[in-house]
Amino acid sequence: MTKTTISLIKADVGGYPGHCSVHPELIKAAEEKLEEARRAGCLVDYRVMSCGDDLELLMSHRTGCDCGDIHGLAWETFERATEVAEALKLYGCGQDLLADAFSGNIKGLGPGVAEMEITERTAEPIVAFMMDKTEPGAFNLPIFKMFADPFNTAGLVIDPSFHQGFSFEIWDVLEHKKVLMNCPEEMYDMLALIGAKSRYVIKRVYCRPGGKLPEDEPVAAISTEKLYQTAGRYVGKDDPVALVRAQSGLPALGEVLEPFALGHLVSGWMRGSHNGPIMPCSFDTAHPTRFDGPPRVIAAGFQLADGRFIGPVDLFNDVAFDRARHRCLQIADYMRAHGPFEPHRLAEEEMEYTTLPDVIRCLRERFVDAE
Ligand code: F6R
Ligand code: MG
Ligand code: MG
Repeated sequence: MTKTTISLIKADVGGYPGHCSVHPELIKAAEEKLEEARRAGCLVDYRVMSCGDDLELLMSHRTGCDCGDIHGLAWETFERATEVAEALKLYGCGQDLLADAFSGNIKGLGPGVAEMEITERTAEPIVAFMMDKTEPGAFNLPIFKMFADPFNTAGLVIDPSFHQGFSFEIWDVLEHKKVLMNCPEEMYDMLALIGAKSRYVIKRVYCRPGGKLPEDEPVAAISTEKLYQTAGRYVGKDDPVALVRAQSGLPALGEVLEPFALGHLVSGWMRGSHNGPIMPCSFDTAHPTRFDGPPRVIAAGFQLADGRFIGPVDLFNDVAFDRARHRCLQIADYMRAHGPFEPHRLAEEEMEYTTLPDVIRCLRERFVDAE
C-alpha cells in the first residue's frame, strides 16, 4: 500500500514588524514555489501557514522522511522567502538559515522539522500544531497528556483499542541519545525525564502491540532541533512544530486539543529568556505583541484524502478556548510583575541574552571575602 509522508518544516526568515508576524508576500512566494513542486510531481499537496514570525510549510509526498529532494525544496523555499524579506527590509532576514548552502538534509541547518510516513487510514484526521516564542520541550506536557494522562484522555480508560497505552521516543538533546519508553508501566520514570523539558524532549509517539495502527508508524512527531547546538552559540529558542494523528484507536480530536486549555508555562517569550503561559489562539491572532508574547500555539486540523490536505480548520478559533486565553493573560500579568526576577526570567544557563558575565567581570575587583 502506498504510504504518505507528511513534512512540516518551519523557519523564521524575516519578521514584520520585529519578531511579530510573517508578511503576506513571504507566504505568497512560498506558495508559488511549492505549487511549482506540486505541478512537477514532487509534492502531492501543501499548505503554507504562519505562527508569529515563523513561516510554516506543510507538505505531503511519497518519498519518505529525510528525503533530500523535499528538504532541499523547503530550503530553497526559505531562501526565496528570504529574498522577498530582504527586498521589504523585514526584520532578521534569513535568521534561521544557519548554513551557507543546503547539504542533503535540512536537519541541523536551522529550520525545525516534524515528519511522519504513514499508511493513510480510511479516514485520517491530523493536526498540525505550530508554536512561537518557545522551545521544543513546550510540547512535552501536552503530548504526554494526550497519549498518557487518563484525566485528559478518557479513551485510555474506556476505549479498548488503546487501553494498553502508547510508547514514547524520548531524546536527550544534549547527549544526542534516545530511549523508547512504554506508558503506563514506565510513566513515573518517563516523567522524571520529560519534566526536565529543556533537555529531554518527546520526539515521537507509537501505538503498542494490540493497538489499531502499525507499531512502526508514528502517531505523533515533534520538531526537536536546537538552534544553539547548530550554531555553536546561543541563538534563541527554537519555536517548535508537531504533527498529531487522531481518532479510531488514537486520542479523539477533543482529547488532542484538551491539554491546551491549561495555558501551561513554557520558556521563551521576550529574548528567549523568560517563562510564561502558552496561549492557544486563532490563526488571525497568532501575533505575539505583549512583551513579544505571550508564547502562542495554533492548531490546523485536516482530513487527509490520498495525501491531499482537506482543510485547515483553525481549531483554537473557538469560544471553548476563551477561558484558557483569559487565564493566560492573567498569568502573563502575574509573571510580568516579577520583572527581571526568576522564575519569570530564566536561570542563567538557559538565557538567550545575558549581561551577567560582563557585570561580574566589572565587579571582580570590588568583590571581597564575605565573613
Ligand atoms: C524571542 C524573540 C524576541 C527577540 C527580541 C529582541 O524568541 O524573538 O523576543 O529576542 O525582540 O530581538 P533583537 O535582539 O533582534 O532586537
Ligand atoms: Mg524572528
Ligand atoms: Mg519565532
